[in-house]
Amino acid sequence: MKVHRDGSWPIEAAESLLARLRERPQMRLCLATGSTPLPMYSRLAQHPDAFAAASVLLLDEFGGLPADEPASCDATLRRVLIHHVRPADYRAIATDHLGEPAAVDAWIDAGRLDLVVLGIGVNGHLGMNEPGAPAEGRTARVDLEPTTIEGAQRYFEGRVRPTWGVTVGLGDLLAAGEVWVLAAGESKVDIVRRSTEGPATTAVPASLLQHHPDVTWWLDR
Ligand code: PGA
Repeated sequence: MKVHRDGSWPIEAAESLLARLRERPQMRLCLATGSTPLPMYSRLAQHPDAFAAASVLLLDEFGGLPADEPASCDATLRRVLIHHVRPADYRAIATDHLGEPAAVDAWIDAGRLDLVVLGIGVNGHLGMNEPGAPAEGRTARVDLEPTTIEGAQRYFEGRVRPTWGVTVGLGDLLAAGEVWVLAAGESKVDIVRRSTEGPATTAVPASLLQHHPDVTWWLDR
């Protein structure tokens, strides 16, 4: 486990990602939205050719949103990154048909996920894999915990109140070649500590990363 603890982490993380893309232009990435990775994405957006051969999978999506909701995970990632860098392949997650989880799994199975970029919930969730989610789980429709529903109101500003979503499962996140977790702010201090120093348990999904051989935590001070 590597830990970067520095106020300039969005820059450093973006530089690290660009270096990986130069080494392996056809990388397959799974990318989170939420608020934490956005400064890193805006740096990456200044490199319009970096993702030209890369494939990007969206990590998760809220259910029950109007098609034009600007704070959906898909609309957010498109706005901050995809629209600027135009990867060879971009795979969002639909929430309105039953076959979608299997279709996302098929996308993942077409090649290994080289790098997964994650945020972390105050309850330790990764993507929408809430406490208790199975460590070997694959893409699924899931119900959100009250803290996640409340937390998401930062994005939706009262327009909608999603209570469920579709997420890539812990099994595929834990099987990725490399995993990054980005966390910033006081509210994440306790859960980062529990995830990195407490027991590895499905009760704290991010603690399962202790079993992964190549995890980097990007933290602010
Ligand atoms: P945040 O969300 O980056 O907006 O804090 C992270 C998460 O809930 O996974």
